[in-house]
This record gives sequence, structure tokens and C-alpha cells, in this order.
Amino acid sequence: MAQVRIAVLGAGNIGGTLGRKWIDAGHQVVFGVSDPNGAKAQALKADLGEKADIRDAATAIQGAEVVVFAIPGTAIEATVSANAAALDGKLVIDAANKMGSGGPADSYAVFQQHTPNARYVRAFNALGWENFADPQFGDIQADLFYAGPEADRATTDELIANIGLRPVWLGGSDQVGLVDSLLSLWFALAVGQHKGRHLAFKMLTR
Ligand SMILES: NC(=O)c1ccc[n+]([C@@H]2O[C@H](COP(=O)([O-])OP(=O)(O)OC[C@H]3O[C@@H](n4cnc5c(N)ncnc54)[C@H](OP(=O)(O)O)[C@@H]3O)[C@@H](O)[C@H]2O)c1
Repeated sequence: MAQVRIAVLGAGNIGGTLGRKWIDAGHQVVFGVSDPNGAKAQALKADLGEKADIRDAATAIQGAEVVVFAIPGTAIEATVSANAAALDGKLVIDAANKMGSGGPADSYAVFQQHTPNARYVRAFNALGWENFADPQFGDIQADLFYAGPEADRATTDELIANIGLRPVWLGGSDQVGLVDSLLSLWFALAVGQHKGRHLAFKMLTR
């Protein structure tokens, strides 16, 4: 696939892990953070050197074709509303979870409200980051279940495959709740049953 210009908002566990692998896959990655001099941004810079292009979030979004949200769920609404015009029409991947909010973990409604033409994908939110860093379980490759526009499946599949997981499409953006049911399952097993964070899912068919 051609090189994709990706803005990864967040330079922490999720943003750093995904961004690194997309750089290695040959994409043009810009990290967008609230403070480019902050500890996580600087740790990434120390690790990646010249390959780490770290800007403020608005600048990162500006030139991107795909914008990945890997920031705290509590920061999503302010970030989306402040950058609504720049996000218009772009492919947005929501990896953020609003944990303990009492409402949904996803921000689909926030994107629909502020930037209704953004093409919303729900992905990379339902497994611990360790499984994106290493998605192989012996001979078995972890699956990544996601929802998003059918027209964007080729791009989304490729970006998931770049991380090393097998993409499994669950339907359009309105299937966000189905993806998030796997987030509940992951927490129930990894945390609730103490099976540990190196835990992922596989679809079997015949
Ligand atoms: N950790 C996981 O295993 C996991 C798995 C799936 C999904 N998620 C979700 O992914 C998101 C990120 O999690 P994480 O574990 O990667 O968090 P993290 O390690 O704490 O990193 C968060 C990053 O977002 C930056 N940030 C905070 N507020 C921002 C803002 N307003 N604009 C731009 N950047 C901002 C932080 O910068 P500073 O540190 O400088 O503030 C940091 O670089 C969360 O929504 C989480 O629920 C996490």
C-alpha cells in the first residue's frame, strides 16, 4: 500500500507502540501531543531520534490523512471540538476509552456531533497495548476486531496488519458497541480473572 500520512495523537503506551510500527512500515507519522516537551513525548524522542516527529495536536492533524486518537478518553471531546474543521472528511481511528464515565467507552457520538463527516473507525481499544507490541502467541497471530466505514476497509486492514494483527471487520461505524463488548470481555478475563494483560482473541472458522 502507498505511504499514508498518519497523525498519532498521544505518545504513550498506545500511541508510541502503534506509531513506531507504522514508521517501520514506511508510513509518514507525526505524533500530536498537548506538550511536545512532556515526559512521554521526550521519552519517545529519545528512543526514536530523528524518526520521531512530535508536534502539538492541531499541527499534527493538519497534514494527516488518518488521525489516530490515543489520548485519555477525558481529553477527546476538547480535542475533537477544537480541531473539528481540520478533521472534516478524514479517517479517524478512536483507540481511546472513557473508562468509568458511566457512559460508553467510545467517542462515536462526540465525533458525530462535532465533525460529522469524519470517517469513524473503532479499533485498537479493546486489547492491552502489550498485545500490539507483540501480537504473536506462539504460531498464532492475534485478531483485531474493528468497526468502521466499508469504503475504508482496505486502508484500515492494512494499518492493522502493519501492527502485526489480523483485521476482522465487524461492520460500519455504528457497530462500535460490538467492538466495545470485546473491551468488556478483555477486562473481565485479563483483570477480573487475573489472566494477565498478554491476552488476545482469535476467530476460528471452517
Ligand atoms: N494502555 C492500554 O493498554 C490501552 C489499551 C487500549 C486503549 N487504551 C486507551 O488509549 C488511550 C491512551 O492510553 P495510553 O495507555 O497510551 O496512555 P498514556 O500512556 O498515558 O499516554 C497518553 C498520551 O496522550 C497525551 N495526551 C494527554 N492529553 C492530551 C491531549 N489533550 N492532547 C494530546 N495528547 C494528550 C499524553 O501526553 P502527556 O503524558 O504529556 O500528558 C501521552 O502522550 C486511552 O484513552 C486509553 O483508554 C489504552
